[in-house]
Amino acid sequence: MSTETLSMTPALHDYIVNNGVRETPALKHCRQVTKDLPGAVMQIAPEQGQFMAFLLQMLGARRVIELGTYTGYSALAMAQALPADGRVVTCDVTAETSNIAKQFWEQAGVAHKIESRLGPALDTLNALIKDGQAGHFDFAFIDADKANYPHYYEKCLTLMRPGGVIALDNVLWDGTVADKGNTDKTTEVMRQITRAIQADTRVQISLVPIADGLLLARKR
Ligand SMILES: C[S@@+](CC[C@H](N)C(=O)[O-])C[C@H]1O[C@@H](n2cnc3c(N)ncnc32)[C@H](O)[C@@H]1O
Repeated sequence: MSTETLSMTPALHDYIVNNGVRETPALKHCRQVTKDLPGAVMQIAPEQGQFMAFLLQMLGARRVIELGTYTGYSALAMAQALPADGRVVTCDVTAETSNIAKQFWEQAGVAHKIESRLGPALDTLNALIKDGQAGHFDFAFIDADKANYPHYYEKCLTLMRPGGVIALDNVLWDGTVADKGNTDKTTEVMRQITRAIQADTRVQISLVPIADGLLLARKR
């Protein structure tokens, strides 16, 4: 019926969330509490959390690495989709929000599946690689500081097993990537990493226009 993706309106977004998303009480609670906190816009959209959970189930994922915990919505959405022995390693530099996250993970009964690490994401990734975890992860969600996305992508690719998927968030950066006149630093980073991954023959790709844009790269 159309060769283009629909433009999103607030009404259409409400329709999608109200009719196409199932959120557990803990996910809803996390959204409610977070909306009044500084940085609330950093939280992923509910339809994106559900989409990533769906991907994990399709992949039969057991081991996930997340960069950027914030108040724990995406880690929770993913942990709920993993089997009982599944694990999410999530990291953030902010202790305060990582601590807030834990109450929702406990509420959902999945706290035992989530390992929260405090510190720069690059340190966490290097430690995992040093620890012999290369090739042992099924899925990576990159959602921390944008300037480091190129480094995060390379390290995550090392950690993925063949067939594992890396999801990079915010690659459309509020639509600014398509505005040729916009030379904002983060906009440029998003354009560069997207172009680099498009040309990267080590992966298969899909740029999904969900929320702020989710770039999927599947390791061959
Ligand atoms: C977009 S938010 C993550 C949102 C989260 N995935 C969610 O669903 O709510 C980005 C997070 O990255 C964290 N961050 C910033 N720089 C970082 C770094 N160098 N290493 C790890 N985390 C970092 C911030 O503290 C912030 O909580």
